[in-house]
Amino acid sequence: MSQQELAAIVLAAGQGTRMKSALHKVLHPVGGKALVSHLLHTVAELKPAKTIMVVGDNADQITNTIRGVKFANQDEQLGTGHAVKCALPALEGFGGDLLVLYGDVPFVSADTMQSMLDAMHSTANCGLVVLGFRAKDPAAYGRLIVGSDGSLERIVEFKDASAKERAINFCNSGMMLIAGEHATTWLNALTCDNAAGEYYLTDLVAIARAAGSRVEHVETDEADLIGVNSRAELAQAEAVFQARARADAMKAGITLTAPETVFFSYDTDLAADVTVEPNVVFGPGVRVESGATIKAFSHLEGATVRKGANIGPYARLRPAADIGEGAKIGNFVEIKKAKLAAGVKVSHLSYIGDATIGTDANIGAGTITCNYDGFLKYNTHIGAGAFIGSNSALVAPVNIGDGAIVGAGSVVTKDVPGDALAVSRAKQRDIGGYAAKFRAEKMAEKQSKKKG
Ligand code: UD1
Ligand code: CA
Repeated sequence: MSQQELAAIVLAAGQGTRMKSALHKVLHPVGGKALVSHLLHTVAELKPAKTIMVVGDNADQITNTIRGVKFANQDEQLGTGHAVKCALPALEGFGGDLLVLYGDVPFVSADTMQSMLDAMHSTANCGLVVLGFRAKDPAAYGRLIVGSDGSLERIVEFKDASAKERAINFCNSGMMLIAGEHATTWLNALTCDNAAGEYYLTDLVAIARAAGSRVEHVETDEADLIGVNSRAELAQAEAVFQARARADAMKAGITLTAPETVFFSYDTDLAADVTVEPNVVFGPGVRVESGATIKAFSHLEGATVRKGANIGPYARLRPAADIGEGAKIGNFVEIKKAKLAAGVKVSHLSYIGDATIGTDANIGAGTITCNYDGFLKYNTHIGAGAFIGSNSALVAPVNIGDGAIVGAGSVVTKDVPGDALAVSRAKQRDIGGYAAKFRAEKMAEKQSKKKG
């Protein structure tokens, strides 16, 4: 599907004051990705010839972070019609149709956008298609007035609507498709002669009809049109995203023991036959291969988990953690930027960072790779089949050879040769009877103090 004759215009000049945020509304993340990026990702499926974002407030926050689109400035927000007009200079010489989208309405599907294109191209003389929905609570939305011939007669803004019109629950999503051949003429005909004193994009309906064009409407589910104007709506958008991600995961053959407690990112990549226990969070950039189990209360980001590995409960995998086939990461273990080969076990209470670990090595409870001296980071290498005793500190840079053993409680500051035993701790000394003598003395001291 290629739409050489389509330009997408994404409106994002509004202030979003109800968010009470220094961050532009459309840049707030949902599923680990900016709201507007969800929309841009979807619209890209239609392969539009151009995508233009109309920006105003905090424009540089958007222009500095969003790539692959052109920007048009709307310095003063004089209404949705004015916003679309601001995109026209960037469309100089382009004759294709204009699909108007809202940057803060992120989940409109590509199918819905395609239905709008289909409606325009399958109806004779259709110059405008409006996307509508049946609102549970129509509140202040513009109302769609459909004529007896099924075409769209008018959109009346809430502020301008009569009591009878306000009783209608068929509402304007704001999204519309404008035929390229008429767009400039019709947009230039908009005025601000209305209750809000704004240039209403919705007035295009009357303008198109007066010019003898037919106006169509497409209906979609209200859930696809969730808009974000406040933190509460941001949380709702997150909930919608998560609900879809959970449903998609289960459809793809992943077991979620308690789906409502698992949180995904936009790019979480789980293979079929992965099992995810309750209360797991996937930050961006996680890939898990088949047969792996992510146990309860684990947090993963930027990590790869290979076939059949076991993670958690209570594990933390940070960016560039790469856990080998059949490896085991246990409770209260943190792994960062470390490649663990197949069969490695880090079962309890460890920090492994900036490290490589060979096949089947066993890392004892409480082992720490001391990778940072306050200024720079250093690497640790642990060879295949090595055994690191509990509570060892491996001071990087350091190499533990294949098959070596590190005695429990050691602080290792020098490389350990393969198959050697390294022990670096004070020798054990037993003083016979000392404990019993100590207790007797202390008991006597305590009793004499009580009497005195
Ligand atoms: C608009 C519609 C209304 C519809 C509603 C759906 C008009 C006149 N009214 O209402 O029928 O039910 O959307 O939410 O179009 N924006 C700009 N520049 C502006 C004004 C708005 O970029 O000058 C952007 C906003 O950032 C936002 C979108 O356009 O993303 C909609 O603006 P908003 O003020 O929320 O819409 P309304 O005018 O209330
Ligand atoms: Ca408005």
